[in-house]
Amino acid sequence: EKGTYPHFMLKEIDEQPFVMRKIIQEYQDENNQIKLDQDVREAMKACDRVYIVACGTSYHAGLVGKEFIEKLAKVPVEVHVASEFSYNMPLLSEKPLFVFISQSGETADSRAVLVKIKEMGYPALTITNVPGSTLSREADYTLNLYAGPEIAVASTKAYTAQIAVLAILAVDTAQAKGIELDFDPLQELAIVANAMEVLTDQKEAIEDLARNYLETTRNAFFIGRSSDYYVCLEGALKLKEISYIQAEGFAGGELKHGTIALIEEGTPVIALATQTDVNYAIRSNVQEVAARGANAMVISMKGLEQDSDAFVLPHVHELLTPLATVVPLQLLAYYAALHRDCDVDKPRNLAKSVTVE
Ligand code: F6R
Repeated sequence: EKGTYPHFMLKEIDEQPFVMRKIIQEYQDENNQIKLDQDVREAMKACDRVYIVACGTSYHAGLVGKEFIEKLAKVPVEVHVASEFSYNMPLLSEKPLFVFISQSGETADSRAVLVKIKEMGYPALTITNVPGSTLSREADYTLNLYAGPEIAVASTKAYTAQIAVLAILAVDTAQAKGIELDFDPLQELAIVANAMEVLTDQKEAIEDLARNYLETTRNAFFIGRSSDYYVCLEGALKLKEISYIQAEGFAGGELKHGTIALIEEGTPVIALATQTDVNYAIRSNVQEVAARGANAMVISMKGLEQDSDAFVLPHVHELLTPLATVVPLQLLAYYAALHRDCDVDKPRNLAKSVTVE
């Protein structure tokens, strides 16, 4: 039921702070420490490499997950698009662990890989929003997203839930390996939940940005560096699937290697600037496109903001910024689609779960 909401997508965007709190609650023990299935912990500890396999938005969450697992738990990770993996299998390590990320747990492309790697005798963990789903049943281990049913075709709360659960998995693996962390992950996720609430209360500001930058454009670019880049891929996917604006996410540094040729007078460029070590570099990229006529907007984070920024996010832990930056991008896509009279919850040519390969 969407209650007083005009669309499921808007309702699901708004539910994200509650989903974060639900995840914290479900994955914490009585001492406020992370609680994870012992078998999952052992599997993560035993593997020499993690292969994340997913499609679409779930693939984008996987890219962020790679960063968590490598940085915190020091386990190498590869992230693969499921449809490519099945016929273009990379050389596998000696002790791979496959991690399938799927909101629905029914995606045929991902299932094809699962069937194949099970035949080969490798272990699999599925991270899904639907515990009894095919991918969940056929894997050795499952982690639940606890996002509640996601009805809108465009995935929002499942994406942030996937990232939060991947953060918990990474931290748990680090702890299992005796790696000391200098932050309290569950406390940082609680800060994220509060930040999301602040963000979902700023709909009017985002709607204005959508009106000013996206209402009539044919195309749009999202640029970012480091983990901001991964969120740019997701922001672009959200925008194209529901507003039909041709949108692409790019690594800020790659622009000058070709894409900058597409920048014309008035082309919208949305830049994310939440990472301290690349702040200077991404801001130079913004100047490069602005000098060529782009209608550039910067979404930054408190502590790194400049007066000219279009939108400033509350401060969250630097590893967890994707959980915050994606919220204004989801809302930008929503309002762009709304103002262009698109069917927000049921975009053309798309189904909620893709059960054909
Ligand atoms: C985008 C979207 C799709 C799905 C993809 C994978 O908003 O919803 O890109 O993310 O089809 O679906 P799941 O996660 O169910 O495997």
